[in-house]
Amino acid sequence: MRKKIVAGNWKMNTTLQEGVALAEGLKAALEGKQVNCDVVVCTPFISVASVVKAVEGSVIGVGAEDCSAHTSGAYTGEVAANMVASTGAKYVILGHSERRQYHGENNEILVEKLNQALANGLTPIFCVGEVKEERENGTFKAVIEGQMEAMYTLSAEDFAKCVVAYEPVWAIGTGLTATSEQAQEVHAFIRASIAAKYNAEVADNTSILYGGSCKGSNAPELFAQPDIDGGLIGGAALKVDTFMPIIEAWK
Ligand code: PGA
Repeated sequence: MRKKIVAGNWKMNTTLQEGVALAEGLKAALEGKQVNCDVVVCTPFISVASVVKAVEGSVIGVGAEDCSAHTSGAYTGEVAANMVASTGAKYVILGHSERRQYHGENNEILVEKLNQALANGLTPIFCVGEVKEERENGTFKAVIEGQMEAMYTLSAEDFAKCVVAYEPVWAIGTGLTATSEQAQEVHAFIRASIAAKYNAEVADNTSILYGGSCKGSNAPELFAQPDIDGGLIGGAALKVDTFMPIIEAWK
């Protein structure tokens, strides 16, 4: 059975001290509670190691927001997947729309990053999603299928180690959420595409998260959809009070 997951993406927010305080606050809030999903926080590189320490003994998993396409060496400013893994982090977001938009990440680069992450035992949370124009002109499914091609270079065994996140770009940080029907339609489309590429078992076992202005008020309806297995949360992950209701949406 596929996992239910609520993952935070802190983006370029929180200093080291703020990040540790946020992680400690989340750990405290979860203590003694029945948690019905996997909880993950993906933090800026600078905080990953300290957040891993801060959440020790809790259910919280930690990840980075990116990793290098390269293994090691003369790539000033880059952080390799093995460095991320050496902190004890278990996840890495790859192909977030902000990386695609501002850092020119394309399938070629993302195939390298996927391989780096998997070779170092990290679970990639691989993001796909259309921009507003592609939603409006009806090309969004072809766009998403094209983005999935990077993942489809993986063997079924490696694919099974990944999480997919559908994040319509027009819904990220805008307050506009895809309706649960719109999200479900794309999630079902992605799952069918995975089944066609691999097989029904791989598709059934893949967790597909929704991201884009997901919050406590809309999470229950989104998570009630048959193909939505959780959320990738930006803004609402930056405060314990707004992140917890999303986790608690999994009854
Ligand atoms: P948002 O971001 O929840 O702030 O819309 C989601 C994301 O970009 O992962």
